[in-house]
Amino acid sequence: MARIELNSITKAWGDVVAVEPTDLTIDDGEFVAILGPSGCGKSTTLFMLAGIYAPTGGEMTFDGHLVNEVEAKDRNVGIVFQSYALYPHMTVRDNIGFPLKFKDVPKDRAVALVEETARLVQVEELLDRRPSQLSGGQQQRVALARALVKTPQLLLLDEPLSNLDATLRLSMRTEIRALQQRTGITTILVTHDQIEATTMADRIICMSKGRVEQIGTPEDLYRRPDSLFVAAFIGAPPINLLPGRASGGGLTVGETRLELTGQADGDVVLGLRPEHLTFAESGVPGRIEGIEPMGREVLYRIETPLGELRVLEGSAVPSHGVGAAVHLRFSANDSLVFDAASERRIAEVRAQAPAGHDTMEQRQHA
Ligand SMILES: Nc1ncnc2c1ncn2[C@@H]1O[C@H](COP(=O)(O)OP(=O)(O)O)[C@@H](O)[C@H]1O
Ligand SMILES: [Mg+2]
Repeated sequence: MARIELNSITKAWGDVVAVEPTDLTIDDGEFVAILGPSGCGKSTTLFMLAGIYAPTGGEMTFDGHLVNEVEAKDRNVGIVFQSYALYPHMTVRDNIGFPLKFKDVPKDRAVALVEETARLVQVEELLDRRPSQLSGGQQQRVALARALVKTPQLLLLDEPLSNLDATLRLSMRTEIRALQQRTGITTILVTHDQIEATTMADRIICMSKGRVEQIGTPEDLYRRPDSLFVAAFIGAPPINLLPGRASGGGLTVGETRLELTGQADGDVVLGLRPEHLTFAESGVPGRIEGIEPMGREVLYRIETPLGELRVLEGSAVPSHGVGAAVHLRFSANDSLVFDAASERRIAEVRAQAPAGHDTMEQRQHA
């Protein structure tokens, strides 16, 4: 188990900078997710930690020891690749035991370790099979056992669940999380799936285009996103982003003037999450354009003077039909205001829905 520090770690391939200079610290025993879209530098970061890629610059330490020059096999790191990368000609037993071959582990001890680890990930019945005789989920477990067999100080998981079907992905999420808590091994999970990151990790490192956008708890990223990118990447269905103009303590969005708490001027973007908009007697008027039942929730598409809004209602059955005239409210606490040019959130500024404001109805009656 180790505390991991990156200081200005960067990786370039010729002119292509895969990872911009990055600083971060991961505590001993922490479960961290690196989250971001395809190509943002997640795997490159992971492979530098594993010792598979040498950084172009910067320093990497495990428990205060510089590891830049330490070879992969000497880092005591377990890694699970997206493709599993099991050896097809070897049995499950030999696959799991493979990393022990390079260590001075007595034969009896090695046999016991393989069986113990196989039990941990529940493949003890499969030890004499070959990878081709296993399902995707079973291969995944074997890859996990191979990464865990020498009790690594750091466990690295590169999109380990992306090749599994939805049901299995769900149960493996819980299992990997429980396994990590039981073993206490510092773990870094790479994923492009925000649900995976928010349900499994203590903290999320959100990346875009080779840069860290924000590091925080899942709640930090959801409630207090630093940037438009994070706001849009976290949350499903996605946040409503409405361009507007702030001036004189107010915010003009579309045809509507909202009250602002805090000081802002110029072009801004108002962020409202679909689950933070609720039907009310008064507020922002609107007309329902579309309804999408989502199981235990209903997603509405609603035309309003702010623009078209996605609204999520916590109900199995829609309370309103297409074409209905409605009013929407949201709490200032839930609103997010971003500077349009820098795309950074203006932390102290919040927007408030107008109470009893009926511009659309007035227009329609006029
Ligand atoms: N071996 C390589 N040679 C050249 N470019 C690479 C190599 N590996 C990754 N890249 C580039 O670095 C960037 C980040 O890649 P990667 O870390 O694999 O992204 P992610 O895992 O987030 O999808 C991409 O633009 C990718 O094309
Ligand atoms: Mg990748």
